[in-house]
Amino acid sequence: MNTSAFPPLFDFSAQLPERDSFMQLLREFAATDAFRSATVDELVLDGDFFRRPLRPEDFSFLQYRKPVRADNVSRLPSLATNRTLLTINELDIARAPGADATAQRHWQAFYSAKPRLLGAQMVPYLEAYAFDYLGNEAQPGEDAQTIGARLRAVIDDEMAAWSNHFDMLMKRDFLENGLRFIMIQRWATLTTRRTALERARASQYFDWLEPTAQPSLASKLPDDTTFARIARMCGVTAPTHSYWQFYLPTTLQRCNLLYALGSRPDRAFALAGAAFVAEAEHLAFGAALLRACAHIAPDAAAQTDFDALSTQLQRRFAQAIDTLVEHHGAAALHTFAQGVAGAQLLGARARWDLGEQLSWLSQIDTYMNYARQIHDRIERDFPDIDRDTFVEPQEMCSTTHVHNEHRLVVIESGDMIFWGNLGMQLKMHPGDMVLIPDGRLHGSTVVSDSCTYHQPIIPNEWIADLKPVPQRAREAVATPG
Ligand SMILES: [Fe+2]
Repeated sequence: MNTSAFPPLFDFSAQLPERDSFMQLLREFAATDAFRSATVDELVLDGDFFRRPLRPEDFSFLQYRKPVRADNVSRLPSLATNRTLLTINELDIARAPGADATAQRHWQAFYSAKPRLLGAQMVPYLEAYAFDYLGNEAQPGEDAQTIGARLRAVIDDEMAAWSNHFDMLMKRDFLENGLRFIMIQRWATLTTRRTALERARASQYFDWLEPTAQPSLASKLPDDTTFARIARMCGVTAPTHSYWQFYLPTTLQRCNLLYALGSRPDRAFALAGAAFVAEAEHLAFGAALLRACAHIAPDAAAQTDFDALSTQLQRRFAQAIDTLVEHHGAAALHTFAQGVAGAQLLGARARWDLGEQLSWLSQIDTYMNYARQIHDRIERDFPDIDRDTFVEPQEMCSTTHVHNEHRLVVIESGDMIFWGNLGMQLKMHPGDMVLIPDGRLHGSTVVSDSCTYHQPIIPNEWIADLKPVPQRAREAVATPG
């Protein structure tokens, strides 16, 4: 338990004694029909806001004893926790149901009292578990210059990362597929992040700032119409959370952090700090997107707008710090800095997570080759590796998930379609195999009567021993569906 003058943003040690009752609540919550694992026709949810596949079977073995760390944000505990948190956070968002009886039934079940009550009791544990690692980077007494440098670093780091991502995608002839995955992370969840901020704004979280000085996720570069057009171009057209299964854990975390800080009035200054970072990230993403889609807007014009908007954002940020120093005291300034630093760290981990997923997807044939190298080594050396064999019937759909270790998928009999992106369809037949690195989001479905496949766990040092494979175009194995 932290006893310093400035408490941490989130403190898992204070929640841990509640673990037993939390686990009971979690299992009860996840048993609700709306949260059962996905069926084969639910890979895209077609606008069903009331259906959130949580893979409740994971809660039978996830321990919830050690909180998520910065170095394991992409693993299953983080994914499962953030899916659950976003579901709970949105039980208060009113979404009108369709007219048919099934939609009405889902609507009623989603908003019924039981999940809402269970969810409200679980949130403090889940948030402390998911976010304990955030916000402790800001040192007490950080001055305006240091905090200002944090926001500038966010803008620079985001721009550099997007430039790297888009360069890599173009070089690998994977821009359209990569952009589809990116738009799901950054455009399809924008409504959610806006909602979290607007609810807090309505609750006066930002009233210590003039309305024009407050952080915002309004799209200026580009505007929403252009964002939507680019999303449409790469096949991202369905309403909020239709692509639920394709959100990375760090994408979900970005949404949940704003909800978490926005539901704690004593963290209002931290929310403002995190919201300025969110605004900076959104601005940098928009500018980089326009550059990558230069046929939609001239490159030079985008750069000019970006420079002006970035300068204006940094000026408002500096004004906010001045206001804190002048009117609200050292504790408020520190809480603000915690919010900035926490969101900054989360942003860095999210850039890494997305980069890893895009890199894997864009060279999936390389990972098929890696799988062959590893498989040959297993056959040759007979190491003590459990093959972890599964026999699945036709049409059994695996809700997308991540593993906490590197695994192979090796098909022994039957046929499977494997994916890690909307529209990806890697057709796998007997003898086919692919390497799934630790933390990479994926799912599969069996398309023959049944499919027997093996999933050996691969040690880290074997990954380091893999021989490089020449780069080639990847479109052949990842076509839009
Ligand atoms: Fe898997």
